[in-house]
Amino acid sequence: MASPAQLDQKFWTGFARNIWEKKPLALKNVQSSLREISADEIFKLLVLFADRCRKLNDSEGFKFYIDGFKADPEEVLQVLPEKSDKSLLGYHERMKALFPDYCLVCDELLQVNLSKQHLLTDFTDQLYQHVGFPNRFSEMGLYLGNYRKTPFGVHVDSCGVFSFPVVGKKKFRLWSPEYVKKNPSLDRAFSYEKHKKHSELLEAGPGDITYWPSSAWHIAESDGSFSATWSLGVWVDKSHKEMVTETLKSLLDSHSETLSSMGTTRFKTRHNQSGEVTELPPAYQQSIEMLQKMTQQELQETFLKSWMKHISSQGFKTIPHTTLKLTAKSHISLRSTKSPILWQQSQISKSKVYFSFGGALIEGTKGSSLHKLILSLNAGKSCQVDKKDLQVLQLLADAGAFSRGEVIL
Ligand SMILES: [Fe+2]
Repeated sequence: MASPAQLDQKFWTGFARNIWEKKPLALKNVQSSLREISADEIFKLLVLFADRCRKLNDSEGFKFYIDGFKADPEEVLQVLPEKSDKSLLGYHERMKALFPDYCLVCDELLQVNLSKQHLLTDFTDQLYQHVGFPNRFSEMGLYLGNYRKTPFGVHVDSCGVFSFPVVGKKKFRLWSPEYVKKNPSLDRAFSYEKHKKHSELLEAGPGDITYWPSSAWHIAESDGSFSATWSLGVWVDKSHKEMVTETLKSLLDSHSETLSSMGTTRFKTRHNQSGEVTELPPAYQQSIEMLQKMTQQELQETFLKSWMKHISSQGFKTIPHTTLKLTAKSHISLRSTKSPILWQQSQISKSKVYFSFGGALIEGTKGSSLHKLILSLNAGKSCQVDKKDLQVLQLLADAGAFSRGEVIL
């Protein structure tokens, strides 16, 4: 068998230029870090996640479809993988006996075991480097079952999708947006025989990768045999304009002392006799003054803080759950040296710094013990928690920044 294809710089440059958001792609036998997660490990992650759901009596994170119909959350708890299934195929045997057509979806499975997360970020980091960081986020789901068609029929999402089959063969049938516009009956369709000749079929097995752009209408097809597939959706439905609007809104919110919270606006005259409006009420005059006083530095700092907070989530929707409880004696180190705690110097107050991890944003003092500790952690060292920094470090721990470090005697 030929050695796996490498996703090297040359590949990604070509991908960004010719494929991304333009056309589908099927790659055979690719060397991707995600291949390092075996079917056995996936099964163990599923059981771990399912055990947590059963314990909390909440199936959040799992979806289950029977004959294309979504099961109720209470029902989902009854059909999740169990340790006694022993393997993905064991789980499938149990399900198959109950349901001739089922589909289990687990969102964000990799969040269960953070030690495996870098296998995903190795892939997404390369992707983002070449096509840009998603303004919304990426989502990694696991789809498994013997379902013959995607439970919701032919559809389109606002995300580009990479699929990585783990077990079994996957087939995805795609149509262009132009074709579906002319043939609207394809929307949510399960039978589309006459449209097949206008579709493109992507086929993939374990080790292969497929991609389709966010505009592609698609449906998964199978002959009813078992398959398990990773699916990475990269959402592209949030514009730069929306990002800027959000940041400006939070900036204006921070100026609430100037911006009146009154529900009415006082005025002298609304319009003159001819109906012409010329007079701006005083509240607006004040707001203009406030906007004019905003400095380049303040805008720079606001946008940089907002960008730092955004990229601190590494492009993922959910922040991983961690249960690391710190004490003043804890030794901690970064969970991954590839995921440092981000920080920036304030442009306005030279003594102020901001730290960010996993969507959390924390204010600190430049050169403080906390700042020094974070720089040491980012340099790959294991550090002891200082009592006075405990509270702030716990926030970063909750956001998934740390693992317990080696105790240095
Ligand atoms: Fe989809």
